[in-house]
Amino acid sequence: MKNIRSVRIARFLLSIAVILTIVAAPFNSVFAQKIRIKKESMPTKSGDARQRANALLVQMTLEEKIGQMNQLFFFGQFQKPDSMFEGIRKGQIGSLLFVTDPAQINQFQKIAVTESRLKIPLIFGFDVIHGFRTIFPVPLATAASWDPKTAERNQTIAAREARSVGINWTFAPMVDIARDPRWGRIVEGAGEDPFLGSVMSAAQVRGFQGEKIGMPERILACAKHFAGYGAAEGGRDYDASYIPESQMQNVYLPPFKAAVEAGVGSLMSAYMDLNDVPATGNKWLLQDVLRKDWNFQGFVVSDADAVKNLLAHGYARDPQDAAVKALNAGINLEMSLEAQTYVKNLGDAVKKKLVTEKQIDAMVLPLLEAKYKLGLFENPYVDQTKVDAILGDPNHRDAAQSAAESAAVLLKNQNNILPLDKNSNQKLAVIGPLADSKRDTLGSWVFQQNTDETVTILEGIKSKLGTKARVEYTEGVQIRRKFPSFFDALFGSKRPDLWTPEQAEDEIKKAVKLAKNSDVSVLVLGESQDMSGEAASRSSLELPGRQQELLEAVTATGKPVVLILMNGRPLDITWAAQNNVSSILEIWYPGTRGGTAAANLLFGDANPGGKLPVTWMRNAGQIPIYYSHNTTQDPSLQGKRYWNEESVPLYPFGYGLSYTTFAISNMKMNKTQIKPGDTVEVSVDVKNTGNRTGDEVVQLYIHQQAGSASRPVRELKGFERVTLAPGETKTIRFKLGKKELQYWSAATKSWVQEAETFDVWVGNDSNAANHSTFKVVP
Ligand code: NOJ
Repeated sequence: MKNIRSVRIARFLLSIAVILTIVAAPFNSVFAQKIRIKKESMPTKSGDARQRANALLVQMTLEEKIGQMNQLFFFGQFQKPDSMFEGIRKGQIGSLLFVTDPAQINQFQKIAVTESRLKIPLIFGFDVIHGFRTIFPVPLATAASWDPKTAERNQTIAAREARSVGINWTFAPMVDIARDPRWGRIVEGAGEDPFLGSVMSAAQVRGFQGEKIGMPERILACAKHFAGYGAAEGGRDYDASYIPESQMQNVYLPPFKAAVEAGVGSLMSAYMDLNDVPATGNKWLLQDVLRKDWNFQGFVVSDADAVKNLLAHGYARDPQDAAVKALNAGINLEMSLEAQTYVKNLGDAVKKKLVTEKQIDAMVLPLLEAKYKLGLFENPYVDQTKVDAILGDPNHRDAAQSAAESAAVLLKNQNNILPLDKNSNQKLAVIGPLADSKRDTLGSWVFQQNTDETVTILEGIKSKLGTKARVEYTEGVQIRRKFPSFFDALFGSKRPDLWTPEQAEDEIKKAVKLAKNSDVSVLVLGESQDMSGEAASRSSLELPGRQQELLEAVTATGKPVVLILMNGRPLDITWAAQNNVSSILEIWYPGTRGGTAAANLLFGDANPGGKLPVTWMRNAGQIPIYYSHNTTQDPSLQGKRYWNEESVPLYPFGYGLSYTTFAISNMKMNKTQIKPGDTVEVSVDVKNTGNRTGDEVVQLYIHQQAGSASRPVRELKGFERVTLAPGETKTIRFKLGKKELQYWSAATKSWVQEAETFDVWVGNDSNAANHSTFKVVP
């Protein structure tokens, strides 16, 4: 059953991209009409919003209330304007997703606010994950910037662009902790760590929503997928997660809590079973944790068809049971393709007294409140005259470029081969299937981009070096998923034909010949964008296709090789790291201006300062491997757990090099003892000891030496990215108080701050060496 469910889910998702591209244009004219736009005004005050929502609620019929809890897709085979018009008119639809044409949005809205009985506006949702028209680096890359300001700015721009076409709500940020790189969706989040993940979560919420819900040019955010989705067994997308409560509280939930504390307006429930209770029917998650412990006042949307899928889990006996269980658990809004489990079943369920109208009122109220807060009752329409200027804003593209520069991580730089000299007359070979692919440069989860304006790495290099450049390109190998994406299957779109075996041989030979005749080879290898993302898990992590063979053959020429990785997960690059590949630069899927950013980094006009947001394994057999593990024996034996392989990673969490060097020293603490609840201050000096300006990320880790439960060997509890000129020193200060020192104890089943001794380390990755201790005393 699970497979069938996975197949269906993946099918519709992968269909989205195609359909949006193909069908959006003709609808412009069908829907275009003149709508009177009021001036943007500030939204309703939050106190008022609740009052007004209550006042509206008492006027609503049961059917109208249930209608507000219904969200439908508008794309592909589900794009049925007539029945949607009718549904909106009758008050049976509260929200649509995947409508991106402003004229169309206004047309739908006009029906809602002029023809439905209570004139309640629709809320339009869309997956604005890492950009709308301007595409920023994928979220995992942004996490690698270790710079919350960049994350916030990216989403501020994404919100501005999306809002300009009439979208009010994004299904982002995705804040799932992921410790298994086989899971394709690791690309959508901030990696393995709850502290970094929480900082990035809050920053993105602020970026999308601004200071409060309803600010002009901002949209409602949605923290997803609540919760534990990243722990899918075997890294297989949608598979069950089994997570003990201590890990839920200490690892998987904190980024959601951070989103709630940052004021996120909505959450999305996850697809999978959590400890045998589907997340979408999980009262513990949706009531006890979210509403009771965290006092969340917003609303929860189900993931697509997740309510209906409670049947597939073997959790609900029929659609009505599914609707009742989801409602009882606390799902306010059902996202569905056409199942409409709520609309079809909740009325009858009230009649049968399976649920009460009061329960329904409680679920509808936050939905109406959000619409008031967003100002939709005052300003339901979007001003179509502003769209082009906003989507074309060149500042947005510049921001995407600097975001890509700050996300790149330099993994290796033997003999300082990088940066290359842009003024030398060297011959440069650019090789690899991803070097000149516009679509792959953007990554997954993009729909509204202008692919043509994307700068590939080859284009970036050529435009940097100008006409005098001696740059030659060859693809070398092709890469393709073994099993086609559902996109191909559903729409019969043609997958690229593969070369014949003879051609493939010839292409590798051609690449090697080019490398021989060049001074330096830049290989751009990794994964095509459809190899990462939803329904894009894999069982091994080698470079797909014959890329490894190509890499080895080019390296064997003895000429310097720079490997640029384009990917959304750690890959098995152990050979490259340990052999004669000179330099490895992780560029991720860098977005619209990715090629320009890559060229700036290659030639030293930008200096890499990103750090890994994930532990980089040597091979897939080490998974799960994360820095914040517990230790169950003498730590010196930690590296000796396998007889065939090191049990330490290839690169630690938090790692990344620069073209300059830094020294972190002079660690000081203002106290060696504190009482529970007090704060200790830690400071260090960071100095740029090299001869270029560069960025360093100073990181602080702690370890509680004993307690009511075992604690991880290290936990990140503070970081700061700083820019330093050559010779410059800055003092960085961190605070450790209750928030950082408490944890959820499996023994007491509660949050505790214990009177124990703590280690503190400060440095530039999770192996940080500057060390000190302090005590919490009763
Ligand atoms: C399913 C995905 O899991 C979720 O992340 C996304 O927001 C929705 N579909 C809507 O596209």
